[in-house]
Amino acid sequence: MTSDIETGSKLIDGKAIAATLRARVAEHVARLRDTYGITPGLAVVLVGEDPASQVYVRNKNRQTKEAGMASFEYRLTEDTQEQELLDLIGRLNADQAVHGILVQLPLPAHLNADLVINAIDPAKDVDGFHISNVGLLATGQKAMVPCTPLGCLMLLRDHLGDLAGKEAVVVGRSNIVGKPMAQLLLRESCTVTVAHSRTRDLGEVCRRADILVAAVGRPAMVPGEWVKPGATVIDVGINRVEPEGGGKARLVGDVDFDSAAQVAGAITPVPGGVGPMTIACLLANTVTAACRAAGLPEPEGLTA
Ligand code: GUN
Repeated sequence: MTSDIETGSKLIDGKAIAATLRARVAEHVARLRDTYGITPGLAVVLVGEDPASQVYVRNKNRQTKEAGMASFEYRLTEDTQEQELLDLIGRLNADQAVHGILVQLPLPAHLNADLVINAIDPAKDVDGFHISNVGLLATGQKAMVPCTPLGCLMLLRDHLGDLAGKEAVVVGRSNIVGKPMAQLLLRESCTVTVAHSRTRDLGEVCRRADILVAAVGRPAMVPGEWVKPGATVIDVGINRVEPEGGGKARLVGDVDFDSAAQVAGAITPVPGGVGPMTIACLLANTVTAACRAAGLPEPEGLTA
């Protein structure tokens, strides 16, 4: 049995690493303001009343301001028509004070998310979801990189240094996390497998991994037996689990933390692992976008 103390030493502290990144972002923001008179601005668009999205948007707004950047928030009603949203994006694309645009997903079902995302100016697409950025990343060119996989990569680099030659298994094939994560790991010269719900012998596949990234959105679906001893485990899942018989909901990752922590070399907790990195990377992407828009050299250490 690994003691609690030993388990603690294996924790990848996303909260602390995100705080360091946010401090670096704030330094760059201050330099842009003092030297060039530029204040990086982030516009966040929320359509509808999804409770989880409201929490994310509130946090994004607060942290954007704390970093010294301008935050523009647009809350539209659930029944917003597509053209109205496209018109807003058009205005934000043209607005010089806005360097980053994020449309919170999921959108209500009557809106075409692909159409909406692809209406964003790729240079302001701080989510990295525009088809141009997806293509740039896939071909190894300079892109806006999606925030959650970028955050995972920063945690991995912080913990492991050079990732070249490592066996990486990404469980999950979403456009937001799984696919861009695989592209980033490939760019780091890992040997990458993308597994998903239809993968045969998923446990066997996961046990090959030196780096195991779980991004499936199913509570505790990766047990400790699927983890190779010494592997680095990155748990992207944030699942709300209501305890049987009532009581306060708990946040649980996609990995069964207690059993995985016994065998892993290092593991991210939930909460306090990948979660804090996502918003920190969003701020970093906004600064990167502001520098690119002004033709300034890109700050070190803010992107992949
Ligand atoms: N919803 C959940 N995660 C994300 C994200 O990273 N970006 C956006 N725009 N919406 C999300």
